[in-house]
Amino acid sequence: MLLTESAKIVTRNNTQLLQIDNSFANAEISLFGGHILSFIPKHDNRERLWVSEKAIFDGQKPIRGGIPVCWPWFGPHATNTNLAAHGYVRTQTWKIIETKETDSGTHITLAPNSSNDDGLSGTTQLTLSIIVGRQLKIQLSTTNIGAESLTYNCALHSYFAISDIHQCELRGLSGQYSDKTRDFQICDTPHHYKFNEETDRVHLQQPKQLSIIDEQTTTNILSSGHDSIVVWNPWKQKSISMIDMADNSYLTMLCVETAVTQNQEVKVGETHTLEQVII
Ligand code: BG6
Repeated sequence: MLLTESAKIVTRNNTQLLQIDNSFANAEISLFGGHILSFIPKHDNRERLWVSEKAIFDGQKPIRGGIPVCWPWFGPHATNTNLAAHGYVRTQTWKIIETKETDSGTHITLAPNSSNDDGLSGTTQLTLSIIVGRQLKIQLSTTNIGAESLTYNCALHSYFAISDIHQCELRGLSGQYSDKTRDFQICDTPHHYKFNEETDRVHLQQPKQLSIIDEQTTTNILSSGHDSIVVWNPWKQKSISMIDMADNSYLTMLCVETAVTQNQEVKVGETHTLEQVII
């Protein structure tokens, strides 16, 4: 596979990383999981993504932080509790299909070794297209190449870097959400969406733009192809219980996930695309 002049491959522990350094930004993408780890636009030199200082890079466990690709289910599998949470492609090695340079940045197309495994009925082709430019654009495309219609769920499970969870506010959500920390109770989205406890919420909404306002900085997130936004912060006790998070690391991260949680149908020969743009 020929890489463009702004791309190179390095190895960290058991993981191959694709590093991009172009005139717009630096980015790092793990081929294990098709997992974006870093995006630093050069116009402000600010890292948008958070990766746990205790993240495990053993090429087997999902990486804690960055942008895990959850597919073809979100959370636990609907019927088989033996299957891994968030599906099976975040623990697969992905291959590089193409890299190219255009006026908008470096384009990278990745595909998992296989998108068809236990827990999905149907036959699919899955690709992750990434444009590393002034913005980071990510498209997860699922094509039904089988003989019958299929349904699936997915998420771009982005971990955003923030300076202090107590100071940050999320803008762009309203209406109600289902609270996973309160047995899926339906609650009203607060007018000022701030954080002071474990947060695990599914907002059945499709806002086009969300903003994380964090002290002096704002990160904007544009989404399409989704039916939900999931907002997650494990807070202190859960962070302590997780081997790949430092005890206080919940203070500097917030997950805002562009997700499909309501069984997206893809008809034979059609493609569904989930998109997130990080600005
Ligand atoms: C979020 C879920 O999307 O991911 C949470 O809503 C879950 O319930 C979190 O705890 C992290 O999941 P995992 O499998 O990466 O530990």
